[in-house]
Amino acid sequence: CGIVGYVGGRRATPVLLEGLHRLEYRGYDSAGLAVANRNRLKVTKAAVRVDELRDLVEENQPATTGIAHTRWATHGEPTDANAHPHLDTAKRIAVVHNGIIENAGRLRARLTADGVELVSETDTEALAHLIAAALADGAPSLEEAVRQTLREVNGAYGIVVLDAQNPGQLVVARNGSPIVLGIGDGEMFVASDVAALVRYTQRVVYLDDGELATITADDFVTSTLQAHRTAKTPMTVDLDDSDYDLGSYANFMHKEIAEQPESVRRALLGRLDDRFGTARLGGLNFDPRDLRRIRRVKFFGCGSAYYAGQLGANLVEEWARLPADAEPASELRYRNPVVEEDTLYVAISQSGETADTLAAVQELQRKGGKVIGAVNTVGSAIARECGSGVFLHAGPEVSVASTKAYTNMTVVFAMLALSLGRVRDLSVSDGSRIVAALDSLPQLISEVLDGEDAISEVAKEHSGAERMFFIGRVRGWPVAREGAQKLKEISYVHAEAYQAGELKHGPLALIDPAMPSVVIVPDDELLSKNISTIEQIKSRGGPVIALTNAELPDGLADSVIRVPRSEPEVDPILFTIPLQVFAYHLAHHLGRDIDKPRNLAKSVTVE
Ligand code: G6P
Repeated sequence: CGIVGYVGGRRATPVLLEGLHRLEYRGYDSAGLAVANRNRLKVTKAAVRVDELRDLVEENQPATTGIAHTRWATHGEPTDANAHPHLDTAKRIAVVHNGIIENAGRLRARLTADGVELVSETDTEALAHLIAAALADGAPSLEEAVRQTLREVNGAYGIVVLDAQNPGQLVVARNGSPIVLGIGDGEMFVASDVAALVRYTQRVVYLDDGELATITADDFVTSTLQAHRTAKTPMTVDLDDSDYDLGSYANFMHKEIAEQPESVRRALLGRLDDRFGTARLGGLNFDPRDLRRIRRVKFFGCGSAYYAGQLGANLVEEWARLPADAEPASELRYRNPVVEEDTLYVAISQSGETADTLAAVQELQRKGGKVIGAVNTVGSAIARECGSGVFLHAGPEVSVASTKAYTNMTVVFAMLALSLGRVRDLSVSDGSRIVAALDSLPQLISEVLDGEDAISEVAKEHSGAERMFFIGRVRGWPVAREGAQKLKEISYVHAEAYQAGELKHGPLALIDPAMPSVVIVPDDELLSKNISTIEQIKSRGGPVIALTNAELPDGLADSVIRVPRSEPEVDPILFTIPLQVFAYHLAHHLGRDIDKPRNLAKSVTVE
């Protein structure tokens, strides 16, 4: 979900709508805003997209304080009533909230028993009633009323509260869901994501968990839930509004796919060491001895980040000969993992806010595990929690389906694996071969993108399929998984990834002329095995799309997507890119809403 708040000298409504527009990728089930005008709240909310909300509100109302929200539904369906902001009965208090209040059921039951009529099914509404009740019971300030209420709340939240009786201020609080303050000149902004603020200011303050703030046009005061004042130093974010503009592109996914030569170049910048055939990742603060002490590497993240981790684990095993694997963070956090001192844990996240990943970081740290972050968003919760790590430098990623951030994750893991390998048995010449391969990636990615029209043709040919296999083995397996993920996210075609060798142990039964298989066929030592896999599929009547940098026998595959040659270990990084293009064009052909796929959100800050 996305939160925006404003207090200052301008009309609040256009600022809030602009902020929501920037945050819509965080959730788009419903949207709403509340402004305070002459001690009354004016609220507009509905199960609509931000553009439609714009048509419902009066943009030039004079109010100069307000809050707004775009929602990804958790409690209660996306209806008008469940849209934020939520109000108390007297319509004095308005609340927007990200996160989940775990004891909402009990709080709602208590309110009902006290005769309060609840008008939505949300956990958030309870907060509005409780804050209003605390004020009615004599809480000395809005901040104090919010503090008292939050002491009764279990769960995750980022909230902004507006009080009709105190229109020159907002109270915000954070516990597990991001809140950032934007400091302007005689005006103050608040949001769940800097994307909403950078048009107005680059000076920001991130709240920590358990912190509250009262913000007015000229000032902000932060404190803890226990009412101890905290000191915050504003930082400057190196982003501006144009980083979030579409430019000439039809949507962000297309733009972000096209940016990859440049974003990969940024990930590599200053980190490759040609002379010693290694990589230097400054944010890690590891000397060679620290690196040698690592005996195992565990990657974890959610969705595409998890698949990137799997690719990273393969590279660590290949180059450093250390046992390595990847696991979904959502599993790791609840699995009671065996935590070892000499294991390096790598938390992977584009947003740095994914709740499952953050919780896994905290659980590992609690058990004494050494966790580093591979994060795209500077200042995010996971980056701060890990303390050390590697930034991805992909630039802001807006499309829900990850492309350039995913690729930079894999590039960063290649450099991590290389540096782990080079303090072990990987020779300088092998290291130099890898450095050269990584260095040429931006150029090779450009070549892949030059072939976009041909890939689009293949996608169009297969756009009638209701289900598809993505088949890969060993190096090709994470490629297949990420390829299937991209396709299902944005096209809603049922895409399943399978290991090539496992196909014959069950899933081959699904092969028929209506089930195309995308087969990952790198020109490596497993080429002949992958050719047999294609033959197995063909002999059952299944259409085959081969993704390859090898010369395949004529007529073997029905369609071929060609990938330029790199080093075999680096192939998986490059092979994923044509599959992004394939998924994009297939979804485009089906007329899907590519940047806002149904039921999904860019950053899932709830469980
Ligand atoms: C959501 C998104 C996915 C993303 C995952 C992890 O589910 O829809 O595209 O891969 O979160 O996000 P993160 O920000 O932690 O990389």
